[in-house]
Amino acid sequence: MRAGSERTFNRDSAMIVTTKQLFDHAYGKYACGAYNINNAEQVMGLFHGNINSQAPFIIQLSKGARAYTDKRLLEAMIRAADEIFPDAIFAVHLDHGDEETCYDCIDSGFYSSVMIDASHESFDENIAITRRVVDRAHEKGISVEAELGMLGGVEEHVVVSEEEACLTNPEEAEEFVTRSGCDSLACAIGTSHGAYKFSGSQGLHFDVIEDIASRLPGFPLVMHGSSSVPPDEVERINAAGGALKGASGVQEDQITRASTMGVTKVNIDTDGRLVWCRVHREAFRDDPENFDLRPPGKIFMVEYAKYIEHKNQVLGSAGQLESLRESLSSAANA
Ligand code: G3H
Ligand code: 13P
Ligand code: ZN
Repeated sequence: MRAGSERTFNRDSAMIVTTKQLFDHAYGKYACGAYNINNAEQVMGLFHGNINSQAPFIIQLSKGARAYTDKRLLEAMIRAADEIFPDAIFAVHLDHGDEETCYDCIDSGFYSSVMIDASHESFDENIAITRRVVDRAHEKGISVEAELGMLGGVEEHVVVSEEEACLTNPEEAEEFVTRSGCDSLACAIGTSHGAYKFSGSQGLHFDVIEDIASRLPGFPLVMHGSSSVPPDEVERINAAGGALKGASGVQEDQITRASTMGVTKVNIDTDGRLVWCRVHREAFRDDPENFDLRPPGKIFMVEYAKYIEHKNQVLGSAGQLESLRESLSSAANA
């Protein structure tokens, strides 16, 4: 079965959907924000922000996030949020999985999609590993994101230096998708993970995006390393005792442009961490006698929700919830 083609999720969920359902609605018009979460405050801010901006979204869990407290706790928080926010429409995704973690998520029955990240392997080995994960995932109607090309920066299990980073080759992308059977492709198009993406005025390689999208029409592309690292956020962090020198991210107008060119999933983690860092640094600076975690936690939830609302405007996903709901219900009644 092609991933997600027949399946609508039936997990007593208000609205956890397949990632394919989100991509089918978004492709070429807007991108879904794929936001990483680690704790309860992030979950609450994320859901509030998406409901306030009426946006569908992807909630993604990295291997590190699943190990931080306990994967069951994180998954239970998402199930609870699904109940607390019955109007939300979202998919649950494993971010940067290795083969073992992909199988764990596929077998759990909870995830809409998994990412197998074998981009550091040779082209043929990347295809072989991705193919194994695709076969196992598709049996359960779960879709698979794979990666070709290498982003610079630091992730859970891999550190890629600037010299090692390389853009995705469009010709290889076409062959990779055909041979691996993956459902979406993370492409290296000029971004990198973390808070230090560009040393000058570099940006996205739109020629590469265009070339890949024209060879793979209608096929969802994924942009990792999409945080904007807002300069005012960095300034506030530094003014409150931080030391983020030379931090920089992706220009928002470039994200908007990519979101209509076939980039259907935009991964954001660092910006959420920056909101957390700014709120907590300022809160303890301004109230040094406080030792209660709840006051800054409350501010963080509000500020993170505001960030999500803004970012969904940039992605074009804001305001899409009703139209998505209608197309899901007409597909279900067809
Ligand atoms: O691309 C990686 C994400 O930012 C996840 O980071 O593995 O530290 O949770 P993490
Ligand atoms: P940032 O580091 O730009 O937030 O990217 C996150 C990411 O790609 C998660 O997979
Ligand atoms: Zn990533």
